[in-house]
Amino acid sequence: MSLEVIILAAGLGKRMHSQLPKVLHQVAQQPMLFHVIRTAASLNPSKIHVVLGHQSQMVANAIEQSLEESLRAKLSLCIQNQQLGTAHAVQQALPNVDADSQVIVLYGDTPLIPKTDLENLLASLSVNSMSLLTATVDNPFGYGRIIRNAQGRIECIVEEKDATPEQKAIHEINTGMIATTGALLQEFIPQIKNNNAQQEYYLTDLVGLLVQAGRAVGLIPATAPELLSGVNNKMQLAQVERIYQLQQANRLMMDGLTMADPARFDLRGELTFGQDCFIDTNVIIEGKVTLGNNVIIGSGCVLKDVSIGDNSVISPYTVMEKSELKRHTTIGPFARLRPGNVLEDEVHIGNFVEVKNSHIEEGTKSGHLTYIGDSDIGAGTNIGAGTITCNYDGANKHRTTIGKNVFIGSDTQLVAPVTVEDGATIGAGTTVTRTVPANALYITRAQPRVLQDYKRPTKKPKKA
Ligand code: UD1
Ligand code: CA
Repeated sequence: MSLEVIILAAGLGKRMHSQLPKVLHQVAQQPMLFHVIRTAASLNPSKIHVVLGHQSQMVANAIEQSLEESLRAKLSLCIQNQQLGTAHAVQQALPNVDADSQVIVLYGDTPLIPKTDLENLLASLSVNSMSLLTATVDNPFGYGRIIRNAQGRIECIVEEKDATPEQKAIHEINTGMIATTGALLQEFIPQIKNNNAQQEYYLTDLVGLLVQAGRAVGLIPATAPELLSGVNNKMQLAQVERIYQLQQANRLMMDGLTMADPARFDLRGELTFGQDCFIDTNVIIEGKVTLGNNVIIGSGCVLKDVSIGDNSVISPYTVMEKSELKRHTTIGPFARLRPGNVLEDEVHIGNFVEVKNSHIEEGTKSGHLTYIGDSDIGAGTNIGAGTITCNYDGANKHRTTIGKNVFIGSDTQLVAPVTVEDGATIGAGTTVTRTVPANALYITRAQPRVLQDYKRPTKKPKKA
């Protein structure tokens, strides 16, 4: 039997107090909806229906622009123009659902739903016409309650707003996730009425209808109920983020990463790493980051789309993006690598050095307070403190080429396009505007003047 998933994502999310539709609020820098789609896709369904409503265009655009093609290919979007309830939402997808398929219904605002729970739901369909994921929680407020008869068999679900005080005292709740078949939904959804406190078509009313029709309804306890609380406000969004981050940190540590504190770590992309890597506190990883063996990432670093070779040390508060660092590099503290750099083995970039779109060869060092932009720098070169490549003439960017074994004195400006050939030496305080030949000394420096017994200006006395 093929599988189809219906994700309900039409709700407004008033309590988020935001212009953004609720399902686009992010967990680990990805819309909540994308997490649900990813989990759905992991079950290998033939189709994933997403029911959109509020700001459907904005959600559709986000899917179009940011979701990977392999997932998009499975999606079938449909619009629920008025939010008349969860059953009504499912109904919008039904014309496109194959009667012969198994169907799982998920919510777009429940991004941490574990795959195992969904597998358990599907497995239970061998004996049930429909199964729902339940949980027993300390505080059941707001949830649909599971109503059982004297024999302990399920009778129906009662929503918070329709519940009697005795029913409200029940702690066994409906998480909202169900599994059933297309045929069953097509038969029973049209029978659901909206004669309840909210005048909504409740998907949960399926349970009562099925029980009355003598069909078996399964109750499957969630493996980890805390993963199934939907996000309704920013506080819950932050809680979900921390749970998710801890899950990722735990997975990385089980794979061998050493972390100073898994509670102070954020992975907003993918991290791969070799052996004996260490990540200190408050590091943020974005995009695709690859670490070799024995790489140390200091506290407060932000790394996005970078690869860092074996035995490299990235000292605290370094920010780097789209760069490739080879082995034994030492970077920071407080360094900034903007996109487009390749740093070969043993390159050292120190504090308050910014590097952009540059290729730096083996063993070259730039220890302090420097801007290296659009440059090619040879091996074994030393860049003094306060060196600046003037790569921008106000209209265009130009490259700076520096050879190997060059010594650039402190406070040098290299006005690009310009070349410094191998072995050259630049005196401190120089402005380089033309080619420096190999092994030459190049210096531009104003003659010093010494005025003896100089008197500084003195402050005029204040008028009384
Ligand atoms: C629902 C369940 C409740 C369960 C709870 C778990 C119903 C009637 N109740 O209640 O038993 O305990 O979830 O969190 O199903 N949506 C639409 N269109 C609509 C209405 C809702 O797409 O017309 C979507 C929402 O965007 C949301 C999901 O369905 O993703 C759940 O809707 P919501 O209104 O939050 O249901 P609850 O009242 O929380
Ligand atoms: Ca909800």
